[in-house]
Amino acid sequence: MSTAKRFMDMTWDEFQALDPAAKMPYFNRGERPYHALIAQQFNRPMLDRLCALATNIRRIAKTRDGMDFLASLLAHKRAMLYFTQPSSRTFLSFYAACQILGMKVSEVRDATTSSEMKGESHEDSVRTFSSYVDLLIMRTPIQGFAEKMAWLLSSTERPVPILNAGSGKDQHPTQALLDIYTLQRSFERIGGIEGKKIMFVGDLARGRTVRSLACLLTHYPRVKLYFVAPDSLQIGRDILDLLTAAGVEFEVSSKFEKLMPEADAIYMTRIQDEWDNPADKGKLDISNYSITARHLSLLKPTGVIMHPLPRRQEIAVEVDHDPRAVYWRQVRNGMWIRVALIAMIFGRDRDVARHFEDNLG
Ligand code: NCD
Repeated sequence: MSTAKRFMDMTWDEFQALDPAAKMPYFNRGERPYHALIAQQFNRPMLDRLCALATNIRRIAKTRDGMDFLASLLAHKRAMLYFTQPSSRTFLSFYAACQILGMKVSEVRDATTSSEMKGESHEDSVRTFSSYVDLLIMRTPIQGFAEKMAWLLSSTERPVPILNAGSGKDQHPTQALLDIYTLQRSFERIGGIEGKKIMFVGDLARGRTVRSLACLLTHYPRVKLYFVAPDSLQIGRDILDLLTAAGVEFEVSSKFEKLMPEADAIYMTRIQDEWDNPADKGKLDISNYSITARHLSLLKPTGVIMHPLPRRQEIAVEVDHDPRAVYWRQVRNGMWIRVALIAMIFGRDRDVARHFEDNLG
């Protein structure tokens, strides 16, 4: 029985209960991702190939001919952006990635303008929209919804790849890919990500980017992760269990300034108080979990400061001028890694390799 067959034969409850790592064969086709739903579906060879592909693509994109070539790759395909949770950067990053590959893009950004207002289920809405396109890119506040749609569509006549652009407080796999790409580029000349100390700071309880990135970092030997947050915003037990099972060293702490000199990368996050009751908003003092210009002398000369953005006050604007602040590079890397991901899903990485070899190799 093929893997795809078993995916569709399972009930949603059975599928959901699987260990995340066991879902890998359902979301990938051999060595290529088919969907991008959870960070756990990516292995190290895939990460390395995606990063190398993104770098080749951005080199090809430097010329008019190169851009024309890229725009021919998926000119016969259509993508749908279903974003029912606030987003502008991730939305535009995916939008631009689709445009670079020549895809035609449509969008739903507000479920209140759709038949969901007439009582239609989210599942029926998305299934309807999927019939018009070849790729679905989804951001929703509902944990696991993108996965559920992948499971649901797998038993229909017309399954399409689904990219999770952020699901609830749980996962943001493509942000984790761009973060890995940024770390890899930042540490290129100093031995790569292996053995580096990565510190996560801020709202680790609801920051889905941190959860997804922590999963991907298990593929890099000897890394050590620090989770630095007030107790009420600490990282979930499930992520710590996953790290323990993978043999990754970690430390949970509330002492930011003390640990700062140890870090090779400091990954700042904002407080996600949109999940709080209105009465609790703004009550937490997070001034001890912020970076200002005065902290820069504590950071290693080869260290980097990252942020998934949007930021609030957790990184002072003066820090932007420091060459170790790489959050604006992350944004640009994000667009290219998304181009690489979509190209790979549709098997166009081979065409990119051939073009690179013929023109730039
Ligand atoms: C993050 C998100 O939406 O999870 N932003 C992003 O996609 N880059 C982080 C956030 O909202 O704070």
